[in-house]
Amino acid sequence: MKICMIGTGYVGLVSGTCFADLGNKVFCVDKDKIKINKLKNIISPIYEPGLDDLIRNNVRAKRLNFTNDLEKAVKESQIIFICVGTPTKKGSNMVDLSQVFNVAKSISKYIKNYKIIVNKSTVPVSTGDQIEKIILKKVKRSLFDVISNPEFLREGDAIRDFKYPDRIVIGSDNKKVFKKMQLLYEPLIKKGAKFFSTSRKGAELVKYASNAFLATKITFINEIANLCENTGINVEDISVGMGSDARIGGRFLRAGPAYGGSCFPKDTKGLISIADKFKTNLSIVKSVIKSNQNRKVLLTKRIAKIMNNKIKNKKITILGVTFKANTDDMRESSSLVLIPYLLKRGGVVKYHDPSGFKKEFKKNKNLKFERILSKACLGADLIIINTEWDEFKSIDFKKVVKKENFKIYDMRNLYNPEEMRKKKIKYFSIGR
Ligand SMILES: NC(=O)c1ccc[n+]([C@@H]2O[C@H](COP(=O)([O-])OP(=O)(O)OC[C@H]3O[C@@H](n4cnc5c(N)ncnc54)[C@H](O)[C@@H]3O)[C@@H](O)[C@H]2O)c1
Repeated sequence: MKICMIGTGYVGLVSGTCFADLGNKVFCVDKDKIKINKLKNIISPIYEPGLDDLIRNNVRAKRLNFTNDLEKAVKESQIIFICVGTPTKKGSNMVDLSQVFNVAKSISKYIKNYKIIVNKSTVPVSTGDQIEKIILKKVKRSLFDVISNPEFLREGDAIRDFKYPDRIVIGSDNKKVFKKMQLLYEPLIKKGAKFFSTSRKGAELVKYASNAFLATKITFINEIANLCENTGINVEDISVGMGSDARIGGRFLRAGPAYGGSCFPKDTKGLISIADKFKTNLSIVKSVIKSNQNRKVLLTKRIAKIMNNKIKNKKITILGVTFKANTDDMRESSSLVLIPYLLKRGGVVKYHDPSGFKKEFKKNKNLKFERILSKACLGADLIIINTEWDEFKSIDFKKVVKKENFKIYDMRNLYNPEEMRKKKIKYFSIGR
């Protein structure tokens, strides 16, 4: 099939490349010329394991094209995916849909024969109706259908998640469209993905409800970790004990820092704004948002306690600053609260991240990016493990720090406290 992805970010680029890998001809369009130029030279603008090779193979096979030419891409494609950002509006919980509506307006100029417009961006209930209205201003009703196909991939595991999804959700009020979408996803359905069809509004809500539920699971275990710290219980035992129950499940039940990233913070807020619009009180989701915000403060207080309130002039190393491992995405990362806190209290901070230097910290004085992990740890008074990249899992701390009495705050519980005790390292972790 001929497909067009509008928006070549984490979702559009990964799913476009994977659709090409399944044998489709794919146009990836973005308004960002620098991004498209990089991609034309087979340089991925994002860090995602395995993506560079997949892009290269599919460009060489002439199935994957990168372009700024929206007109050509729309005219040549049967299915058009909208994959642009849907951030939170500043100072509110509302979703900023301007990118989605701009795309709807732009593509309406070029629709001359039947197209399926698929919204893959995460959007509030009834956004599909609004997209339809915009397109109807220029295009006859018989020439298009607007459907919802929310994306569930996780950054860092995006290719695997796309190729082996648990479910493919298609929301449409026109049943004929389901068959075409089923055909597109046939290779994944054959491998075991559940094809689930519902109304357009239903699919829009499935995405928000899923993300809010996962955020709730994380927040729940984080609060249980607080209780464990006050009762001398190991939170990991609770995770295993709870997670072994098939009704609960063990995933997203590992205690750590506040959740961040481009989805959970904005989608929990987005869900609240949808519920407000439909006069419904989602008190659980509201509590989750509050608890997660409190957690950022709570963990900084914990650091102050670990350092006996002496942060000034202390050498502090942060391992990992993105919101999680295997991505370069800094959106809503807890390090954006943690690092300014340490700097404000006079800490001398270094950070190391396998995905490289971060422009978000460009202006911070007393903060240094260190490309080499051992150099980042050398001479540290405190090492904070903030994300769980594989290279952080077996560090010989005494060898790299080369100093007595340093401390480790492991926010991802990567190390065994007993072994750290044996090595006489002052080690602190989460909920144990
Ligand atoms: N990042 C994730 O892990 C993830 C997972 C599932 C769903 N989603 C949802 O998917 C959507 C996209 O997320 P993302 O993380 O890929 O966003 P992103 O910010 O990484 O990418 C969006 C891209 O759209 C481009 N764009 C914006 N307006 C455009 C226009 N008019 N024409 C062409 N290109 C345009 C931007 O330049 C950017 O490259 C969001 O709604 C998000 O909530 C994201």
